[in-house]
Amino acid sequence: MREIRAEIKYGDCADILAGDPANTFDLIVTSPPYADKRKNTYGGVSPDKYVEWFLPRSEQFLRVLKPAGTFILNIKEKAENGERHTFVLELILALRKQGWLWTEEFIWHKKNCYPGKWPNRFRDAWERCLQFNKTRHFKMNQKAVMVPMGDWAETRLKSLGKNDVTRFDSQVGSGFGKNIANWLGRDKAYPTNVLHLATECGNKSHSAAFPEALPEWFIKLFTDEGDLVLDPFVGSGTTCAAAQHLRRNSVGIEIKQEYLELAREEVAGTAYQLMEKAPEYGKNNDRRNNGLHRRKSTAAAHK
Ligand SMILES: C[S@@+](CC[C@H](N)C(=O)[O-])C[C@H]1O[C@@H](n2cnc3c(N)ncnc32)[C@H](O)[C@@H]1O
Repeated sequence: MREIRAEIKYGDCADILAGDPANTFDLIVTSPPYADKRKNTYGGVSPDKYVEWFLPRSEQFLRVLKPAGTFILNIKEKAENGERHTFVLELILALRKQGWLWTEEFIWHKKNCYPGKWPNRFRDAWERCLQFNKTRHFKMNQKAVMVPMGDWAETRLKSLGKNDVTRFDSQVGSGFGKNIANWLGRDKAYPTNVLHLATECGNKSHSAAFPEALPEWFIKLFTDEGDLVLDPFVGSGTTCAAAQHLRRNSVGIEIKQEYLELAREEVAGTAYQLMEKAPEYGKNNDRRNNGLHRRKSTAAAHK
């Protein structure tokens, strides 16, 4: 079995990536610092300066991503002075000008978000996962993320109406026809662009870790085994751990020393888990042994 590599690099992703050749990575999946959100823990960028701060970094992402690669950006604007800030919308427009195609927007629905009461809005239970590409012909393994047909088979599919059995264009005018009858008798369907995932991330010492299931879903969808995944704002290393679990190579970049160590431990722990499943994996991998005892409990908390 081929050895899987997970490398966590220290520094500003703009500087580190400047040293990498063009067209290196198959997928970039990341959650950058949100504007000003966690100033006290890992620094923040003012919402008004966010686009200016982001663009030199995304310029590198554009250069190092392979032509058939995908860039997934998990981000959410906050509300300030009674309205939502527009920096994410401005960022999308600026990224398009930089040369990216804004292919899709997935919604991460945080299905377990805390209850709360605000005077002029309800609790925030979703974040954006924006998809950008360099070309229209990107790698996409749709079958890898199929979901059980579930209730549909029992309810809607059993009482098909006239519109369901003949092909017609969707009401949103996307030009895609659908023939629901085609799905009769199947046990799996393609998912929607809404991901229902809990926010829990084990007992991580990072205030903004995302759940491993989030990068995992995109890694399955946009890469093959042995491909190379990048998280330029890797934090506690979740993306690289997910990549390792799925037997993809990965590079993570982190600017803060304390998170760097957390991320390195995370991937070491993952390698240890893999070793338990497949004894032939990484026989001479020293890093695996470094993380062996320290990470065992945290790795278990992930499950
Ligand atoms: C939202 S957190 C990422 C959390 C990560 N998804 C996880 O699951 O732990 C963003 C991370 O980016 C790091 N960061 C901020 N600016 C950076 C830069 N220019 N280059 C690399 N990392 C940076 C922060 O220290 C922080 O750990």
